[in-house]
This record gives sequence, structure tokens and C-alpha cells, in this order.
Amino acid sequence: MGVSFVTEGSVMRTLIKNGTVVTAVDTFAGDVWIEGEKIVALTAPGAAHGMTADKTIDATGKYVMPGGIDAHTHMDMPFGGTTSSDDFETGTIAAAHGGTTTLVDFAIQTKGSSLRQGLDTWYGKAEGKAAIDYGFHMIFTDVNPTTLDEMSGLVREGVTSFKMFMAYPGVLYVDDGQIFRAMQKARDLGALICMHAENGIALDVLIEQAIARGETAPKYHSLSRPQIAEAEGTHRALALAEMAGAPVYIVHLSAPRALDKVVEARDRGLPAYAETCPQYLFLSLDDLARDGFEGAKYVCTPPLRPKEMQEDIWRGLKTNDLQVVSTDHCPFCFKGQKELGRDSFAKIPNGMPGVETRMYLLWDGGVRTGRISMNRFVEITSTAPAKIFGMYPRKGTIAPGADADVVVWDGEKEHLLSEKTLHMRVDYSPYEGQKVRGAATQVFSRGELIVDEGQWLGKKGRGKFFKRNTFSL
Ligand code: URP
Ligand code: ZN
Ligand code: ZN
Repeated sequence: MGVSFVTEGSVMRTLIKNGTVVTAVDTFAGDVWIEGEKIVALTAPGAAHGMTADKTIDATGKYVMPGGIDAHTHMDMPFGGTTSSDDFETGTIAAAHGGTTTLVDFAIQTKGSSLRQGLDTWYGKAEGKAAIDYGFHMIFTDVNPTTLDEMSGLVREGVTSFKMFMAYPGVLYVDDGQIFRAMQKARDLGALICMHAENGIALDVLIEQAIARGETAPKYHSLSRPQIAEAEGTHRALALAEMAGAPVYIVHLSAPRALDKVVEARDRGLPAYAETCPQYLFLSLDDLARDGFEGAKYVCTPPLRPKEMQEDIWRGLKTNDLQVVSTDHCPFCFKGQKELGRDSFAKIPNGMPGVETRMYLLWDGGVRTGRISMNRFVEITSTAPAKIFGMYPRKGTIAPGADADVVVWDGEKEHLLSEKTLHMRVDYSPYEGQKVRGAATQVFSRGELIVDEGQWLGKKGRGKFFKRNTFSL
């Protein structure tokens, strides 16, 4: 029996036929029907007799998956004496090429200003530029009675998560009392606190001492930030959240000893969540220690760790103690930006490009190597961030009623990772010359085909702000 539904006026209907649909829980042969901006039906292949489509994509031999959600990006972000090199136009177009259809970026409160002013600045950066949908987390740099009061307004507006930093004293750092007050408020509002968990005060001492010894090369960025500082910060964040009765999400977890803290909290049933990033799975201290000043390309915080630590991070993904892989995309060009730190690693702007390469790397190095299943790939790149950050089920799955953010994925397609082939506005790739298998052949954002066989068909400014729900897991 066919499926019937009403097409209103000139609403575009697209059929993606003969593909293998992959969600976080299911893998099945099916046809996906899109009407306007929504998925409206899933049918057995060829079963929707009598239905017609304005456009048909033949996905034979390919996978049809929900578009990626990158819950940690920094577009157009002033940091380290410069500004991240992708803005909302270049960064979202690059994301789409890599199969990501939604971002959650970080708006920043400037010390002495309101959350409102910070958020409005970020609305201004994204509007008219973003090519895919986006939401915002709010970075707190100044927690006081006035800014705490502002939180409820932001939550109502769909900005339902707040990031604080235990690192970067004098810049983004907030103290434990501030963190604790914000967590209590978040608990009352149903908001989620995201934590950069490293003991920045102690690390600043180690950095100063390293520089005094003349240890100024990029590799000392990692050697002066030992994993115990991240483990301590993670433990403290979890303890403060437990005292406040609030959920907490540890961002960019890089270190096995920090993971141990998350495992312990989750084993006790606490609402503790954590993400890692591809750089902690695929890059290492060896990259930071490359000849000359090359290692500057790999300076991010927390730092890249010794290679032997990567397996523990993979284990965390397998056991679901790490629920999400996002990118912490924060690119700085080598020329003119990373070079600011030629005489000292402490002056190298922290951050790496990654928004476009996340899905390639995780498919090639995760699914194809048998470390994770296709369903787990979908879960950690799309479904889990949608659930944790209040976007599910409109985002993060293939189901009737969901936004038609859909990726047709060729699991065998070879792709060269290079500054020349990628679209991020940065003059290097950390993975230069590496060939991976697995790439998007078509990318839909709210029903619109925005990438077709590598060709950009979307428009800047078409992305919409996503009003996220409160935390409900
Ligand atoms: O190196 C990084 N991670 N840069 C962005 C800022 C942050 O800490 O997330
Ligand atoms: Zn951070
Ligand atoms: Zn970040």
C-alpha cells in the first residue's frame, strides 16, 4: 500500500531512494521523503506507489544519515591577541561540505558587560552569514548577581547552556565560587553548564617556569600542561556540580586521568557528560614536537597528549563515558597568527581547524577500522549532541517530523585532506596529505540541497538560529 500525504502549493518534495538509512539505533533499507523543510515519511524501497517527487536522489550503495551536529565551535572569535580565521560564512560552508548541518557556537560575555551584549554581538556575527542552522552557548566571564539574573532570559530565548573556564586566568577564568553560583542557577533553570576543566592557576606557574628555563618551543605547550591538571579540574567541576545538584558537560576532554573522573561520576549515577574531539583521537604530542616551528599548527588547549593516551579516549567513546565528538574548531592561520608565538609557545593562539574534517576522520578512523559502529558514529556526531543540547528530535535523527538535515554518505569515497581541498579559511591542514575514505555526496539542510558532489549550492545567510530546549535527559 502506498503512503499518501498532501503537498501544499509549490512545496518541494524530494525523494532519497534505495539508500541504507542509518540512525543511532537502526540500519535499514529505506526511502526518505522530504517535503519542504521536513522529513515526512520513510518507506520501504520503492513502496510509496503513486507518490511523486520533484527531485530524486539515487542513494544506491550509500548511507542516509542525519546531518552532523558540531556542538563546539568558535567562529570569528577574538582570542590570543587575534581572531579565529573562519567567520560564520566560511566556517558554516566548510562544515556543510564535511557533512555537518548544525553548529552550536560560543558567544562570549566581555568582562564588565552583560550577557545580553555578548549574545547580541554573536547574533550579529552569524546573521546574514551562517549557511547552516546554529545555536549558541553563552560563555560567562563575570558571574555576579546581575549576570546570574540574566540567565533566565537567555534560557527562554533558547540559549540553554553556559560555558565557564577554569583555565586562562585573567582572560576567561572564573573562580570556584562563581562556577558554583552559576551551577545552582543552571539547576533551577534547566540549563546545562559546560566546563573547560583545567587548573589554570597552577598551569600558569608551570608555564612561567618553563619559559624561564628557555623551554619556548611549541611542544612545551603540552609539557607544561600535564594531564593531572585536567583531571583535577574535571574532578572539581564534577564535585561542584554534584554539590549544586546540576548536570555538567566537560568540554574537549583530552586525558585518560580526566576520563577516569567522568567514569567515576557516571558510575555513581550523576548527570555527568563529556565530549572529546578528533585531535585527541588522531593527533599527538609528536605533532607538537615537529621540526622548527611547525608544531605551532597543533597548539590547542587542552594540549595534544602522548600518542599512547589515544586508546583510552577511544575506550571512553565505546563505553559511552564520552557521549559526543565535537571539534572545538578555532582556526588560526600559520602565517601572521600562529607566528605570533615564534619566541614563546605561550603566545601562540590556541586552537585548530576541524569543523570540516570531523566526520571524515571518525568514519575512516572509527567506523572503517571497526572501533565504532555506523550507529555509534551517528550517535556521537549527531544524535547525542542533539539530545544533550535540547535539539532532539527536530535535529539529530531521520524520522518523520524531523528537520530534513540529511547527509547521503558514500562510505568508500576517497578524500584527500589538504589545505587545497578543504574549505576552511585557514592556510594549513593538521592532516595535510592524508587520504581518508568516506564522504558526503549530498548534504541537505532543512530540505535544501546545499552540497552536491562537492559543489556548493547553498547561500550564505540561509542558516537560522535554533532556539534550543532546556536540558531534559
Ligand atoms: O585551543 C582551544 N581550545 N581554543 C578555543 C578555546 C577553548 O578553550 O575552547
Ligand atoms: Zn575550552
Ligand atoms: Zn573551545
